[in-house]
Amino acid sequence: MSTPTLSCTPPGGADAVRFPDVVVATRELTKTFGRGEAARTVVDRLDLRIPRGVVYGFLGPNGSGKSTTMKMLLGLLTPTSGSVSLFGLPLDQRSRGGLMARIGSMIEQPPGYGHLTGAENMRLVQRMLGLSDAHVDRALDLVRLTGHRDRLVKTYSMGMKQRLGIAMALARRPELLILDEPTNGLDPAGIEEIRRLLISLAGEGVTVMVSSHLLDEIDRMASVLGILSAGKLVFQGTRAELMRRSVPDLLLATPRPEAITPALLEGLGASGPALTSEAGVRVAGLSPDAAAELVRRLVAADIPVHELRRETHSLEDVFIDLTGGAGAL
Ligand SMILES: Nc1ncnc2c1ncn2[C@@H]1O[C@H](COP(=O)(O)OP(=O)(O)OP(=O)(O)O)[C@@H](O)[C@H]1O
Ligand SMILES: [Mg+2]
Repeated sequence: MSTPTLSCTPPGGADAVRFPDVVVATRELTKTFGRGEAARTVVDRLDLRIPRGVVYGFLGPNGSGKSTTMKMLLGLLTPTSGSVSLFGLPLDQRSRGGLMARIGSMIEQPPGYGHLTGAENMRLVQRMLGLSDAHVDRALDLVRLTGHRDRLVKTYSMGMKQRLGIAMALARRPELLILDEPTNGLDPAGIEEIRRLLISLAGEGVTVMVSSHLLDEIDRMASVLGILSAGKLVFQGTRAELMRRSVPDLLLATPRPEAITPALLEGLGASGPALTSEAGVRVAGLSPDAAAELVRRLVAADIPVHELRRETHSLEDVFIDLTGGAGAL
């Protein structure tokens, strides 16, 4: 028997101390495909932090690196550099088996053989993982497939296939569930059903990481969001934090639009030139302090203002601003 070595560093390294209740933590996680001239970095130094018991929405346009990241979290792809720690333990060849036993996942397409019934597919998972009948019945029940368990999977709708995939991931009662686009191709009712299921699982303490390229699909289920753009994490935090980040355009109605010159806006940090339309002059990128300064300048220059207001900015606008169509590499 080997003598355990004493170490001052807890399992998971310093991160485990700094983030005691973080289920998924990555440090500078990077994946480059190809070599030399053809090398493309599709996941670029990600520092993910997924707290225990939340639904974490992992967002990004097509090709931004979501599936590649999730595959690295599951040990299906080896990072080019950087590291992954799960439940405070570093993911490596030795730890992988034990860590994966605590995780349920569905990556890219829902799994399941079309020529078998839902129940038969579940039985394969059951045998592979040595699960009880109760585990399987509960998982099918949670995704409301009990009534369809004896139908061939090829006769299932898209939503039912997705739900079977989730049941397969849930069967082992995982502490962490990693689902890649589980709402893909579903109608609003199907999305709502998955939303409710994932929120209730998080309520039971399961940590859920769910990806999507559509903010709308995971907005109301995720309490923490991570946003990828071209392989980089451009935002991580709560929805409220995301909204605070955004600076909606300012709309200024004046009979003298020509007076809103670049010189008047000098030093205010406006991100673009003022655009004039029938509705007024639109100024982008002004912080609240800069907006107050603009009002002072308007008064000082004796420019009449009929109306001054912020454009409404939806979360979708913020998402598009952040990712700016730069998703596909
Ligand atoms: N095995 C591979 N070899 C080379 N390039 C790859 C490989 N897998 C993925 N890529 C590329 O990496 C980039 C990120 O792909 P990834 O599948 O992670 O994106 P995604 O965010 O999941 O996109 P989607 O929303 O379309 O599922 C893409 O440009 C893709 O073409
Ligand atoms: Mg993908």
